[in-house]
Amino acid sequence: MKYINSLAVISAAVLLTACGGESSNSDNTDSSSACISSEKSVNWEKVLQADAATLAEYQLFDNPCDPTQNASTRGLPYSLSAPLFTDYASKYRFVFIPEGQTATYSEKEVFEFPVGTVITKTFTMPADTSDRGVEKERIIETRLLIKKAGGWVARPYVWNAAETEAVWDKTGEVVAINNLKHGEDTLSFNYGVPNQNSCTNCHQFNPNGDHDAVNGIDPTPAYFAPIGPKARYLNSDYDFGQGPENQLNKWVADNMLSGLPAENSSIQKAADFSDYKSLAEYSGTPEQLTATAKSWLDINCGHCHRTEGQASNTAFRADYNIPWDGNEGHHGACAVPVSGASAGSTWIIVPGDSSQSLMYNRMNTTKAGLIMPPLGRAVIHTEGTALIKAWIDSLDPALCN
Ligand code: HEC
Ligand code: HEC
Repeated sequence: MKYINSLAVISAAVLLTACGGESSNSDNTDSSSACISSEKSVNWEKVLQADAATLAEYQLFDNPCDPTQNASTRGLPYSLSAPLFTDYASKYRFVFIPEGQTATYSEKEVFEFPVGTVITKTFTMPADTSDRGVEKERIIETRLLIKKAGGWVARPYVWNAAETEAVWDKTGEVVAINNLKHGEDTLSFNYGVPNQNSCTNCHQFNPNGDHDAVNGIDPTPAYFAPIGPKARYLNSDYDFGQGPENQLNKWVADNMLSGLPAENSSIQKAADFSDYKSLAEYSGTPEQLTATAKSWLDINCGHCHRTEGQASNTAFRADYNIPWDGNEGHHGACAVPVSGASAGSTWIIVPGDSSQSLMYNRMNTTKAGLIMPPLGRAVIHTEGTALIKAWIDSLDPALCN
């Protein structure tokens, strides 16, 4: 791993040379040539090769220096009603589906995408989490998932300090973030761009698939897949420029999705979560608090803590579609942890007592060996942790009788 530039001060000089966003000033940008594209359409051939040294070569965005807006044709921005927490980074997500093809709806799992699909997720860091917008943010990395004929591949691209170029970087990076303002707090930490191999930690399922082969035939082969584009997270509104629209309907209207049930009520809908809502807004009723905890745990933990995930051998399950009622045990209420890192906690969830609950204790820490998720987080997610604390504290201790 290399240690790249410090973001101690997002200096005026960086802002001036950064391209993209409303604030770029053409008189002033010596880097502007890198930021002007003559091509406004995706280079699908390059996409299928999935080997571009720089992000710009795929021609995914009108301005090759701005992966946060103005996608080329067949590219659509999307958001998830509950996102994965990554150290308060802003995330800009786009899906690109080749002309004439569509994703196929799935009730509970991630949609099936055609070969040639690219999904991009760009991570940027504001100076103050209450003041976001790309022109005020430092673009750090753009992660790609590309569906090749043989399946999905992961491609991490890391931006240079001038934000004029993102290069394919398989080794990972550490980016020092200094003095990020978050409410009353000032956070300084090392933001980790994962190396390409570690994408599998979260995106690969059935990691031990090979172990259950019968007569050489593996009923559950390992597979690599996207995580977010599921009906329950896209069954939410996004403003594509004409006011909020349901994303699933928009995908259908744009010929990006087929198989969406006509009957809307049969489509799952995950409760939304945002760092900008107060806990009181989630806890109006016990049902609402549970629903929000369920979404948060599913998107933040469920990709590993599910039968097909990397943490399938633990006593904690977080995926949305497991039974989620009280003393089920699977999500950890009254469940004895199997891992060694359980100091101070008797059960994964001690109903009514978050302080004794391993789930809470592994979220409310940044200690190596204890921190959950085990990668991709350097600071405590104050808002998510408060949500789970409130939910655990609301559970009836009699559940474990
Ligand atoms: C700690 C777990 C974790 C790791 C490690 C991880 N991802 Fe993801 N990734 C997620 C989750 C969860 C989502 C969906 C939630 C969201 O987008 O906020 C996601 C979403 C994405 C998306 C958008 C499409 C989708 O799957 O939802 C892309 C693209 C992506 N990741 C690429 C990568 C690449 C490339 C790497 C390695 C450099 C990587 N990810 C490493 C957990 C992870
Ligand atoms: C990248 C995969 C991954 C993600 C994402 C992840 N975990 Fe884990 N988790 C593991 C692994 C592997 C273990 C077993 C090793 C250990 O205990 O450290 C584990 C163990 C645990 C345990 C102990 C379970 C037992 O039976 O001992 C708890 C509790 C836990 N995780 C909570 C969480 C929570 C809460 C989240 C989401 C905020 C989360 N994890 C996200 C991989 C993950």
